[in-house]
Amino acid sequence: MSESSAKPTANIGVIGLAVMGSNLARNLASREGNTVAVYNRSRAKTDELLAAHPEAGFVPTFSYQEFAAALTVPRTAVIMVKAGAATDAVIDELVSVFEPGDIIVDGGNALFTDTIRREKAVREAGINFVGMGVSGGEEGALLGPSLMPGGSDESWVTLGPILRSIAAVAEGEPCVTHVGHDGAGHFVKMVHNGIEYADMQLIAEAYDLIRRGTGYTPAQIADVFAEWNRGELESYLIEITAEVLRQQDAATSRPLVDVIVDQAGAKGTGGWTVQTAIDLGVPVSGIAEAVFARSLSSHPEQRTVAAHLPGPAQTLQVDDPAAFIEDVRQALFASKIVAYSQGFDEIRAGAAQYGWNIDLGAVARIWRGGCIIRAQFLNRIADAYAQTPDLQVLLTAPYFVAALGRAQSAWRRVVADAAAAGIPSPAFSSSLAYYDGLRADRLPAALIQGQRDFFGAHTYRRIDREGTFHTLWSGDRTEVTAEDTH
Ligand code: 6PG
Repeated sequence: MSESSAKPTANIGVIGLAVMGSNLARNLASREGNTVAVYNRSRAKTDELLAAHPEAGFVPTFSYQEFAAALTVPRTAVIMVKAGAATDAVIDELVSVFEPGDIIVDGGNALFTDTIRREKAVREAGINFVGMGVSGGEEGALLGPSLMPGGSDESWVTLGPILRSIAAVAEGEPCVTHVGHDGAGHFVKMVHNGIEYADMQLIAEAYDLIRRGTGYTPAQIADVFAEWNRGELESYLIEITAEVLRQQDAATSRPLVDVIVDQAGAKGTGGWTVQTAIDLGVPVSGIAEAVFARSLSSHPEQRTVAAHLPGPAQTLQVDDPAAFIEDVRQALFASKIVAYSQGFDEIRAGAAQYGWNIDLGAVARIWRGGCIIRAQFLNRIADAYAQTPDLQVLLTAPYFVAALGRAQSAWRRVVADAAAAGIPSPAFSSSLAYYDGLRADRLPAALIQGQRDFFGAHTYRRIDREGTFHTLWSGDRTEVTAEDTH
């Protein structure tokens, strides 16, 4: 095929044909009305995909010129390469063969500030750049992911119908919405991953407490999770937890979970969520503990030298396993509400900071299907924002107030029991501390302000007067208060 003679036939193209890219390309090709051009840096991947899926009717291309020539206008390309330098390289190539009005979509897990930078640079050539969060792993990409596109309104006109056709469907609605401009989509995907980290850590803590408290085998605990998945905790992560715990290792016949090295990996999106939250001043403590719990697990050299530190034996004496398991379930649900509330808080703060008009209820709705954190209770979050669109703290919506009220005593018992027994439960306990911090009538932050003013003249505000004050702390210690002039 020569670039000059080829007649464009494809309405969308995919670049990068590793598993996620080829699955997304197959998903696109399977929907009515789509013809998909494909390109991969190494020709072999393209040939493989074509040979394996002749039914998809892919238009294979072997250069960026051919790729552009195969696409109808506005040319629309989805980049599915490893986030980072490879993304920039592909964008440069596309910009050189695309024309004003064309659309470049980055479906990788890019850092949203990179997406903001890229959108601005690509816009100078008159080309639309859309950073799009894609969640759901390999299966989601193939059968229906949750999609979080950012970018311009103009690009959404072309992309909307295509993305709606390939997204997961939850309660009759496609799991995709135009999240906001430039980096908004990748920002929301980043927070999705932060919540994913928290959810996974909370589930892991629940499993650990049940195991140490009841002595149940992983297979028995799998039954507990399967049962939980029929109630208010129903979610993809609870469902797969049951399956992971039930898995036997073929080589040793032991539960697979006991054969896997207890060091959790991380590709970085959870850390970004926390770093960004720190910049925005948003307390995502549950998410942070989840990120740090993975870091702690991944330092075997430190864990080895610390293994003899004094402390309780890290087992629990539970008299009534059923009651204890119910306590842990309640603690998990309450902590999970905190994690989601913190995540939505970060999205709200990010939207304000970067000028995005993000509909939080719509975000909850597109997470109901396809993505890793899909969960029944996202409907309750969507309801909360439907009732009060400018809800300050998700926790304070009536449904969550009632749920947290019910979970109170169990949550506290579990955190206290875990602490007394020396069983680490960082996400459970930090979520409870956040909850209590938020509802406290007065915090010891006043003392911190006093300390800051003492050693650094950082000033403080008073409860009874407007203005900024500094105390002359030295000398005879008589409290002299002076209004700060700057
Ligand atoms: C998803 C997932 C996915 C992500 C990994 C990263 O929504 O499909 O979030 O995008 O790549 O799950 O997680 P780790 O940091 O744990 O590797």
